[in-house]
Amino acid sequence: MLTGFVLLLASTATAVLLPSQDAFYTQPANISSYAPGDVISSRSIPTNLNGLLSGGPSPSIKAAYQYSYRTTDSLGNAIAAVTTLLVPYGADPSKLLAYQTAYDSANNDCSPSYAFQAGANTSATSDIIFITAALNQGWYVLSPDYEGLQAHYTSGLISGYATLDSVRAAFKQTDTSGLSSSAKYAMWGYSGGSLASEWAAELQPTYAPELHFEGTALGGLIPNVQDVLSTINGGPFAGLAFSGIFGLSKAYPELANFLDSNLVPAKKDQFYTIANGCLSQASSQGAFQDLYSYFRTGKASISQPVPQSVLAKTGIMGTHGVPSMPLFVYKAVGDEVSPSVDTDNLVKALCSKGASIEYHKDVVGEHITEAVTGSANALAWISDRLDGKAASEGCSTEVVALTAVDLESVEQLGGELVALLQDLLGGKLGPAFSG
Ligand SMILES: *[C@@H]1O[C@H](CO)[C@@H](O)[C@H](O)[C@H]1NC(C)=O
Ligand SMILES: *[C@@H]1O[C@H](CO)[C@@H](O)[C@H](O)[C@H]1NC(C)=O
Repeated sequence: MLTGFVLLLASTATAVLLPSQDAFYTQPANISSYAPGDVISSRSIPTNLNGLLSGGPSPSIKAAYQYSYRTTDSLGNAIAAVTTLLVPYGADPSKLLAYQTAYDSANNDCSPSYAFQAGANTSATSDIIFITAALNQGWYVLSPDYEGLQAHYTSGLISGYATLDSVRAAFKQTDTSGLSSSAKYAMWGYSGGSLASEWAAELQPTYAPELHFEGTALGGLIPNVQDVLSTINGGPFAGLAFSGIFGLSKAYPELANFLDSNLVPAKKDQFYTIANGCLSQASSQGAFQDLYSYFRTGKASISQPVPQSVLAKTGIMGTHGVPSMPLFVYKAVGDEVSPSVDTDNLVKALCSKGASIEYHKDVVGEHITEAVTGSANALAWISDRLDGKAASEGCSTEVVALTAVDLESVEQLGGELVALLQDLLGGKLGPAFSG
């Protein structure tokens, strides 16, 4: 869920309206008249990436567009969402990467479409660096607010639908963006971003059968939201559990009612304060908190029928279809946010149903370092797919070690970006990255 390190930045000059105050984020009354992926409105925006990467290499962005588009929520209702398309100078219009960020918040004001705007008061995450690496390849990069306008954080269904409809929307605006209507496209996401990407991959055959992705790279996968809750509770990542439950309760009214009657009244305000924050705020306020202590019946609350039925419907990967596109999955055995055995089991289950998966198990890293170390291989894998090279058929598992990342891939990420990541991680990277 958490990509990890957060870089706080001084706020920049011009003020940008928060989504909650910006009319662009208003859902039209006739939303049901639009088909999934239809563009409701569009605009061109000045971007913020240069500011976010101060001290690092600047991506040269020629244009950026935002589309409000129709998608579908977890209950099947027509809703609006917003996505951002970034176009680098010297862009290759035949290549598109749908990059899902780990914005990990149940508050729409923390959405990437806000953070991408020049003047936004926000903090950079490692996602910005991977997006920059993709832009520096000349790819068009599309990054949706896949939780929808109400920020249904951790709900797999809406995250998948909104990711797929964001791609549909981008292909309806090629006249203005210059993207080729026959462009090859792939997806990438780490942690919270892998949640949206995996759900999109497994929902695609039924929800968007006309789309033909070249592949999807999934890092730090979180196959089972409930296992994440119990794994992170009481630890440094515990804040995400608050946001996750709150996000689900906005997607499922029965869970909102459940929270209302099951939270300890004296702790309700604090619960929602933590749960409503952006990633950095929820992380710091919720760190080392015991989520269960906020419920009248403690840990048993999560086992009640209402939360269990919601988690079963929208919190477990591999239950809504089998991806027909090839997948690259990278995961640290020591991941302390989502147990790696869940990813082993998901890969096994999908492979037994015919999926093609290249699975890299990193025996050295954990959740945060893996975002970085796995990224070089992920970028190289996506690059091959966008070049039209066929992925290997069937499934294979490779045990890798953080220090064994090959130098060719690291170079592809960009030496300066690697240096910046090295800084962000406080020197946690291995020898392969220090050169
Ligand atoms: C929805 O309503 C707006 C405003 O009346 C209108 O401009 C638009 O064409 C409608 N969209 C559809 C798909 O009917
Ligand atoms: C920017 O965001 C921070 C953290 O949320 C907040 O404390 C600060 O007041 C904001 N600054 C402006 C100018 O809105």
